[in-house]
Amino acid sequence: MFISCALALAVSSVALAQTSSSKRGLVFVPNADSAKDNQIWVQSGSDLTWYYNYDAMPSPAFAGVSQADFEFVPQLWGNTDGTTFLDQVEGLIDSGRNITHVLGFNEPDGPAQYGGSNMDPSVAAGVWVQNIAPLADKGVKLGLPACTGGTGGIPWLQQFLGNCSSLISTGGHTKNCTYDFVTIHWYGNFEGLASHMGSYSAAFPNVTQWITEYNLNDQDLTTTQSFYNTSSQYFDRIDSVARYSLFGSFRSKDSNVGPNAVMLNNDGKLTDIGSWYLGGTATGVKPQSAAGRYQAHVLWAVAFAAAGSVLLWT
Ligand SMILES: *[C@@H]1O[C@H](CO)[C@@H](O)[C@H](O)[C@H]1NC(C)=O
Ligand SMILES: *[C@@H]1O[C@H](CO)[C@@H](O)[C@H](O)[C@H]1NC(C)=O
Ligand SMILES: *[C@@H]1O[C@H](CO)[C@@H](O)[C@H](O)[C@H]1NC(C)=O
Ligand SMILES: *[C@@H]1O[C@H](CO)[C@@H](O)[C@H](O)[C@H]1NC(C)=O
Ligand SMILES: *[C@@H]1O[C@H](CO)[C@@H](O)[C@H](O)[C@H]1NC(C)=O
Repeated sequence: MFISCALALAVSSVALAQTSSSKRGLVFVPNADSAKDNQIWVQSGSDLTWYYNYDAMPSPAFAGVSQADFEFVPQLWGNTDGTTFLDQVEGLIDSGRNITHVLGFNEPDGPAQYGGSNMDPSVAAGVWVQNIAPLADKGVKLGLPACTGGTGGIPWLQQFLGNCSSLISTGGHTKNCTYDFVTIHWYGNFEGLASHMGSYSAAFPNVTQWITEYNLNDQDLTTTQSFYNTSSQYFDRIDSVARYSLFGSFRSKDSNVGPNAVMLNNDGKLTDIGSWYLGGTATGVKPQSAAGRYQAHVLWAVAFAAAGSVLLWT
């Protein structure tokens, strides 16, 4: 049995940074076990500069954190009535919040059972034109919808853009549906990730990339850590990647991407990957250590990934 090194770990602040990156952000999944877990990401010394939570509104958990240090990026998760999303984001801007970017739909090409928002491209285009396109006029940068890592993602986006441009022209506007960056999800090994990013570069030449969900799911710890190292170094190195956020901000037993891909062990302590991600050194904390057990029944098969987890956990 593994004995946790937790005693040796100072959780109040991250140990001296080895590799730091201003590109790193948080995919925020509120922790059901402990409100304390939610504050780990914003502790003193953390590299994380931004977050999203699959929602239009910021998370109450971070109400006490300086907005300039931890920027909130709203997302329109899926279909919405009228201009609900636009109204919410405009409300945030009017209240003085600095909204610089918004994210499009979450896995609209994926079925609901895997957390996809499962939207028809033509429906999505209508929702975009009403809720997201107007934000460009306020100087907000727009991220294309975040499709799954499946082969249907880019074709979905092409149909979406085709519909978007015809809707805009019938609406009397003079410009196409514009966007400022693409938003990529990936679950699998590094070669697959790099190849997937290459497909986006080919389909959307010279467009900045955000990797807003990624991880190597369901592998042993060494393989998972090796993937983490290689992918984060790659993102930090290449200029076409503006931001990235690792999917894994939860305890091992709550994971739907395998027990080792997480940033917290079952006691809410940072794992090696968790600490590295925040800019710290290895903690030696094994993902499956401490109270609680990894539950195999939440293990989903998947390149369709995990964003839907928010539906289960909130
Ligand atoms: C808003 O945030 C951006 C990026 O972090 C920054 O460049 C800009 O100065 C900020 N604007 C205001 C008004 O704080
Ligand atoms: C609009 O989307 C539909 C699917 O929703 C697709 O069949 C059609 O080809 C798209 N139109 C364009 C112009 O891309
Ligand atoms: C909008 O995009 C379509 C193809 O996606 C193109 O045919 C059309 O000329 C564009 N319109 C404008 C105003 O740029
Ligand atoms: C992409 O950017 C490079 C360098 O800035 C430029 O040479 C190239 O023409 C661009 N390609 C496209 C398709 O815009
Ligand atoms: C990952 O990188 C850390 C240093 O940041 C290193 O200590 C560790 O051995 C690496 N692990 C693998 C599997 O490459």
